[in-house]
Amino acid sequence: MNPFRALGAVLRSIRAGWLLAREGVFAAVDPAVAPPEARPALALARLVAKRNPGPGALSRAITKLGPSYVKLGQFLATRADIVGPAVMRDLEALQDRMPPFPRAEAAAVIEAAFGKSLDAIFVAFGEPVAAASIAQVHRARVREADGSERDVAVKVLRPGVMRRFRRDFADMYARAQLAERFLPEARRLKPVEVVDTLARSVKIETDFRLEAAAASEFAENVRNDPDFRVPLVDWDRTAQQVLTTDWIDAIALTDDAAIAAAGIDRKGLARTVIQSFLRHALRDGFFHADMHQGNLFVDREGRLIAVDFGIMGRLDLKQRTFLAEILYGFIVRDYERVAIAHFEAGYVPRSHAVADFAQAIRAIGEPIHSRTADQISMAKLLTLLFEITALFDMKTRTELVMLQKTMVVVEGVARRLDPRLDMWTTAEPVVRGWIEQRLGPRGKIEDVGRGLAALGRALADGPQLLERIERLAERAEAAPAPAPERQGGARWRTLALWAIALALVWMALT
Ligand SMILES: Nc1ncnc2c1ncn2[C@@H]1O[C@H](COP(=O)(O)OP(=O)(O)O)[C@@H](O)[C@H]1O
Ligand SMILES: [Mg+2]
Repeated sequence: MNPFRALGAVLRSIRAGWLLAREGVFAAVDPAVAPPEARPALALARLVAKRNPGPGALSRAITKLGPSYVKLGQFLATRADIVGPAVMRDLEALQDRMPPFPRAEAAAVIEAAFGKSLDAIFVAFGEPVAAASIAQVHRARVREADGSERDVAVKVLRPGVMRRFRRDFADMYARAQLAERFLPEARRLKPVEVVDTLARSVKIETDFRLEAAAASEFAENVRNDPDFRVPLVDWDRTAQQVLTTDWIDAIALTDDAAIAAAGIDRKGLARTVIQSFLRHALRDGFFHADMHQGNLFVDREGRLIAVDFGIMGRLDLKQRTFLAEILYGFIVRDYERVAIAHFEAGYVPRSHAVADFAQAIRAIGEPIHSRTADQISMAKLLTLLFEITALFDMKTRTELVMLQKTMVVVEGVARRLDPRLDMWTTAEPVVRGWIEQRLGPRGKIEDVGRGLAALGRALADGPQLLERIERLAERAEAAPAPAPERQGGARWRTLALWAIALALVWMALT
């Protein structure tokens, strides 16, 4: 490494360490658990720490360090296994908002990207409306070939941000390598891998052609959804540093007064938030993984609109089946089903007993069913489930963690709209619909042969099968009815009937 570059890296590391120490970030570290080599540094850090850093100190320090560290912080906020739950909560508060850069600089970026003057691309180009570490958004106007005009949103990459990322990631990479070399304790956390993952995701987030592609794929998936839409991409005005989409002239989900003035049904909107997220995850396996209210709008017809497709999550069919099975298993209180889903997906090694695992899962599921509907959190449920599954050697699944993290956010958005939202009844139709469709006539075509054979067996087995159905029905009737004020008797009866129907399908197939 060239000596000036190395000196620069050392100075920047000192500055980063200093800023973090000033905000008291290291003061919280217990010297007893730190490696002996780090103790003098910790003592120094304690000395320079502000007396009363107060809440938000960590996110303040990180914001001062700039975009790369904001991204690192946001990434670590999804990794309790690395930073621990307390720091994770601090990091979750990290807001990616920055002062805007001047309109003239944005114009220069656009002109360089298209090799044309700004006036040749837009008939009007406004001041920034929102700014974050990677980009900012302007409202602009374009003229079509037929002379008509329409408004667009233009997202422009922050000038110099690529260079900054490259430099900061090189620094972080060097530090991670040093740590792996000299701090055996740190090796378990795989710091080099963390920096690698981060650099890769930032590369995707800073190429707006990829964000445009995500927006376009997403739009195709939801084109028939009556209650959800996304802005269309203007490919002619999109490049690596510039993303142009339809301007969304709707009410921001943050604007409670406007939502009230427009007479939007908050309960209905909350339902739409949950159901569309689950539909995208289950039906399409492609979901918006940054669904905070700043990225959401509602139009006059009550339709939900999402913007910002920099971070999307994908689930393959196996993961979707797994998700539907566990959610449904919890809804109908079938913990064995939840356990088996884990084994079938290959997430938990077969060396564990299904019954033991089901028992641990029951410990999560049962307390939830004794709560009132508005206290049940699907996100919390998934969080607890992943904690339990870790005990059974389930490895961290990046996509599922992403889903769970997004679920926390989505649920927060929905609860703010409707504090009494019932997660279960809201989620049930989407989850059941998907399972039905997978197990129903359409999903069946794939294994029609197997189905026919099973049917043959079931018919030959007729009397026995009938007897089993009878016994099941008896048991369902004998079961004590749940207290109606607590969970709504009709809903549970429907669920019980569903459980029976599914049991029948299962019996016919085995
Ligand atoms: N198509 C659009 N129409 C109207 N406003 C938009 C549009 N796209 C983005 N915005 C506004 O700009 C803000 C920032 O855009 P976003 O894509 O979320 O960037 P970032 O990745 O920096 O969060 C959004 O929160 C929204 O308020
Ligand atoms: Mg955004």
